[in-house]
Amino acid sequence: MDYKVADLSLADFGRREIRLAEHEMPGLMAVREEYSAAKPLRGAKIMGSLHMTIQTAVLIETLVELGADVRWVSCNIFSTQDHAAAAVVVGKDGAADDPKGVPVFAWKGETLEEYWWCTDQALQWPDGTGPNMILDDGGDATLLVHKGAEYEKAGAVPTAAEDDPEEWGIILDTLRRTIADKPGRWTETAAAIKGVTEETTTGVHRLYEMAKAGTLAFPAINVNDSVTKSKFDNKYGCRHSVIDGLNRATDVLIGGKVAVVCGYGDVGKGCADALKGQGARVIITEIDPICALQAAMDGFQVTTLEDVVDKADIFVTTTGNFNIITADHMARMKHQAIVSNIGHFDNEIDMAGLAKIDGIEKIEIKPQVHEWRFADGHSIIVLAEGRLMNLGCATGHPSFVMSNSFTNQVIAQIELFTKPDEYPVGVYVLPKHLDEKVARLHLDALGVKLTELTKEQAAYIGVHVEGPYKPDHYRY
Ligand code: NAI
Repeated sequence: MDYKVADLSLADFGRREIRLAEHEMPGLMAVREEYSAAKPLRGAKIMGSLHMTIQTAVLIETLVELGADVRWVSCNIFSTQDHAAAAVVVGKDGAADDPKGVPVFAWKGETLEEYWWCTDQALQWPDGTGPNMILDDGGDATLLVHKGAEYEKAGAVPTAAEDDPEEWGIILDTLRRTIADKPGRWTETAAAIKGVTEETTTGVHRLYEMAKAGTLAFPAINVNDSVTKSKFDNKYGCRHSVIDGLNRATDVLIGGKVAVVCGYGDVGKGCADALKGQGARVIITEIDPICALQAAMDGFQVTTLEDVVDKADIFVTTTGNFNIITADHMARMKHQAIVSNIGHFDNEIDMAGLAKIDGIEKIEIKPQVHEWRFADGHSIIVLAEGRLMNLGCATGHPSFVMSNSFTNQVIAQIELFTKPDEYPVGVYVLPKHLDEKVARLHLDALGVKLTELTKEQAAYIGVHVEGPYKPDHYRY
């Protein structure tokens, strides 16, 4: 088996945590029970690009139990939990000197070159073929396949879709190398892929852009916009893990501090709630009048970053947009202000601009925690080099919330793989009855008792007794 992880001797530790996580992931375990005999994913060759954590290990082993042949990478250079990666490679029945699990190419602290090498490795099976399904988080695997096929078709360098010239250069090098090794590889790979299921807001955004431009090569299910994903993982997941990231990185007392949350979407709402819960005085920045009004009605001060940049102690960007905190902002911050991002990509904070400031000095406090000292002697603390801090500095979302997200992922993989005729090239969300099913699978574990509609009540509000209970336009 080919794989590359940090240390297989960590597998036992990983396996013990996977065992605990399984109990906290009732949705995934229920899906295993429902489908393990039928094996609807038999024949599926799934390439996954999603943070290689303990929770993801439970997802991977669920896909395998349903019949899939899987290869995996992390979708971020800092988010891998090395014991999780080791346990997945070793597998339930293997040993460190005889791994029998799933090929994983991921370790904590990859370089960008290594990151794209890993992505390329997971997109190639040992027999030289590619995957027929992608499970993506942020869209990097989808991007590599699309840009590769575009490159081959045009016989020229595809235009940069990214804002980061350095990373774009690495992607292009990867494409040039792989095409030289096997001309036509990416066109073949794109043609063989039946579909992609995408985990996050930023990746979904990329998919809709490609669909609009007519360049999307295969159907996609937008898992992010299942209600049981974005209204749970993005919100309650970040409510948990933003504090975890801050604590593990700095252990600064949050109570009484002024914290600025940029963006009040699902992630922003979770982060603001958590910081408020710790006693921080939370300030929101927003561009959308609806979200700004929500923030105000939730009791937060809403203002511009310029207004508070020199007064706040903690900054968290949650926008999925770029250049939110500029180098100039950072230069004006208070001494030892903490700067962090929880959005998918690292371009929310202008790290390149920060590094270019005259006389600036970068001091590593510990991995993923850096003090940046300005020429005048004052400094700021940047978490995870501007990459998502909850996965870079802590362990991301806890199992229970990820069970909701990943149950959607598994159902979406089954949909695209087994019903190709129902999904012509385009971007879809799962039907509401499946969204409700995911929620239902998590109720017992929390001791939730649902009220059942009478037939008359159902008829009165125009739904079926067994659901769906809301029209598609309902917003929760
Ligand atoms: P969203 O679209 O619900 O929220 C983003 C908000 O930022 C919007 O309300 C938007 O109006 C606002 N915004 C955009 N530009 C802004 C600017 N210049 N200044 C202030 N506000 C601005 O998206 P969601 O679901 O909250 O996701 C945000 C990011 O977090 C995405 O990149 C997503 O992929 C990522 N994400 C990260 C997770 C993690 O564990 N770290 C989990 C889930 C999502």
